[in-house]
Amino acid sequence: MTPPHTLSRMSTLTVATTKPAATSADALLVPITPGRGKKVVVHGAGFTAAQSAKIAETLQAVGATGKAGETTVIPAPTGVKAGVVVGVGLGDRAKDRGGEQMRRAYGNAIRALSGKRKVAVVTPDDEPTTVASVAMATRLAAYSFGEFKSEPAKPVETITLVLTSINLRSTVERAETIAASVAFARDLVNTPPNALAPADLVEAAKLAVVDLPVKVKIWDEKTLEADGCGGILGVGKGSSRPPRLARMTYKPRGAKAHLALVGKGITFDTGGISIKPAANMDEMKADMSGAAAVIAAVQAIAALELPIAVTGWVPAAENMPSGTAQRPGDVLTTYGGTTVEVLNTDAEGRLVLADALGMAVEESPDLIVDVATLTGAQRIALGSRTAGVMANNDDARTQVIEAADAAGEAMWPMPLPEDLRASLDSPTADIANIGDRLGGMLSAGVFLQEFVPEGQPWVHIDIAGPAYNDKGAYGYTPKGGTGSTVRTFVELAENMSQD
Ligand code: BES
Ligand code: MN
Ligand code: ZN
Repeated sequence: MTPPHTLSRMSTLTVATTKPAATSADALLVPITPGRGKKVVVHGAGFTAAQSAKIAETLQAVGATGKAGETTVIPAPTGVKAGVVVGVGLGDRAKDRGGEQMRRAYGNAIRALSGKRKVAVVTPDDEPTTVASVAMATRLAAYSFGEFKSEPAKPVETITLVLTSINLRSTVERAETIAASVAFARDLVNTPPNALAPADLVEAAKLAVVDLPVKVKIWDEKTLEADGCGGILGVGKGSSRPPRLARMTYKPRGAKAHLALVGKGITFDTGGISIKPAANMDEMKADMSGAAAVIAAVQAIAALELPIAVTGWVPAAENMPSGTAQRPGDVLTTYGGTTVEVLNTDAEGRLVLADALGMAVEESPDLIVDVATLTGAQRIALGSRTAGVMANNDDARTQVIEAADAAGEAMWPMPLPEDLRASLDSPTADIANIGDRLGGMLSAGVFLQEFVPEGQPWVHIDIAGPAYNDKGAYGYTPKGGTGSTVRTFVELAENMSQD
């Protein structure tokens, strides 16, 4: 298969310094907030007093209130060149922590305009953080996965930010680069599992960086065997489509630090012999979302030329039941020699991560962060939109959560209680692959910790919920693959390259 690496059909962001009323577009987005009485307040520079009064009046007449997330379409008043004007309700801006309320509002508006080609966007102010947020949200919202549809939906193609100067062009370009990588991660997640075998996933890692200074090394089943990657091989054994491992290396001159990213790449998780129930099993095509995040983040970091060395690790396997599949009770030897008793073949993510973490630690990076759709327990604990973050180092965990906050991704700290280690004791091997069911997200983290030596800063992010939106689209988040953690990784790499 050809992984969907061409982003040309996706939307693009541009900047214009025309007056909003003089900007030609199919629609003009105008930010509004609730005012006194039933009035709305129109924000953004460049309108004459008469123009904003007319827009406010028309919006009010059709019931706009300015509340957060509200989208109101009106005909363009005389003198406004765009086809229609869309009031984007920002709500009470004092209540907008980190700009997420605003990002979702713009996201709603862009999604509502699906089918229109060109949308011009007025921002509430010209602060770099505001412009960056609006650029990111509008670009992320203009997404739809049409690869396998005869008549794909047509998300907005061109988003033009109407600014008072071109000073913020680089801010907008940064958003464009990161959003393109997020879209790439979403595409990988949304690609059906018959079209994305382990070999395709590592091929996607190559294609993602063809034009960038990133080296990609790939292990096949033979070289995995030669290097002792028993975890990846054990999980992949049941599939006719053999497992792979990819390592992506970005090492710019003058790198300030070294960050290693490790992503779970299970291209489909049936559970294996410990097979999953049929209901919603199709969603297990998203079990390579961690890998998608790592591939996309390395792509964005290299494209932005950040002065930090990054190694991306992508262990890829398909977890299938068959006559060649591993059995409950099998013992594997992971990279580095630790033996694991496989008590449940559905706890496969930690097995492939064990090998990849074992390899990643050999380079002694300043920080290792793994990301995985690891446990159903993550969704029980934190719901479907907030990722769980665990670590062997409190400062490193805080660093990741701060990056997530700045990037607008919901993540929350979780502990790795020492007492859970005993629940992973195996009578036969060094460790078992399942521990206490209570706190299942944490016992999975405690298992992974076993493969990271003390003193090596390491953070584990469980995105079982956030990786895939099984409900309706909201804000700038589409249905299906979300591209979770790409933005956090880029933010983290930026922060690490500044200290
Ligand atoms: N890929 C699943 C976790 C998952 C579940 C992700 C639902 C997204 C949505 C993982 O491989 C798994 O099956 N975990 C098991 C572990 C258990 C056997 C210890 C789980 O959570 O049930
Ligand atoms: Mn599983
Ligand atoms: Zn899984």
